[in-house]
Amino acid sequence: MDRHHWDERYAEHGLVWRAGPNEFVAAELGDLQAGRAVDLGAGEGRNALWLAERGWRVTAVDFSLVALEKGRQLAGDLPVSWVCADATTWVSSVPVDLVVLAYLQLPAEDLPADLDGFDLEVLRADRVARRVAAPEGDEPHRGQHDRTAWDALLRVTRR
Ligand SMILES: C[S@@+](CC[C@H](N)C(=O)[O-])C[C@H]1O[C@@H](n2cnc3c(N)ncnc32)[C@H](O)[C@@H]1O
Repeated sequence: MDRHHWDERYAEHGLVWRAGPNEFVAAELGDLQAGRAVDLGAGEGRNALWLAERGWRVTAVDFSLVALEKGRQLAGDLPVSWVCADATTWVSSVPVDLVVLAYLQLPAEDLPADLDGFDLEVLRADRVARRVAAPEGDEPHRGQHDRTAWDALLRVTRR
């Protein structure tokens, strides 16, 4: 989907994604000492906001202005910078301690191989199950059953 499609999707009433952080983001990053973080493909900022609440200074990057504006309104005084840019070419002007990519669909067959050439240690490279609850009320696809989504989880750290 290009940025215009994402803008249309985010123009829906309410949040497209749930308000809390993604469960794997929370599980993997909850113990880290706060520093400076970048959330690439941040959407409405659920993970960026969660990090900021834990003391991180966060830059949330997305190419959908509509999504970023929703995030900005949720953020209040939290230390999040909202940057409208293509995550595949944007470069941080300052060193960062953490980069999060959560459900940023990039054309990548093999994530670890994409990181070849960087001095990184792979801490975790797994296929992980996530329960997706069936929609309620008059949401689209109601009547479907709860189901399992399979995510690719990659956690790397600088050596
Ligand atoms: C599935 S959503 C996930 C949003 C957020 N990470 C989350 O977990 O709630 C994917 C997001 O990536 C953004 N996106 C996709 N390709 C992008 C690109 N090349 N540059 C910046 N943002 C991009 C979309 O606008 C969308 O907000």
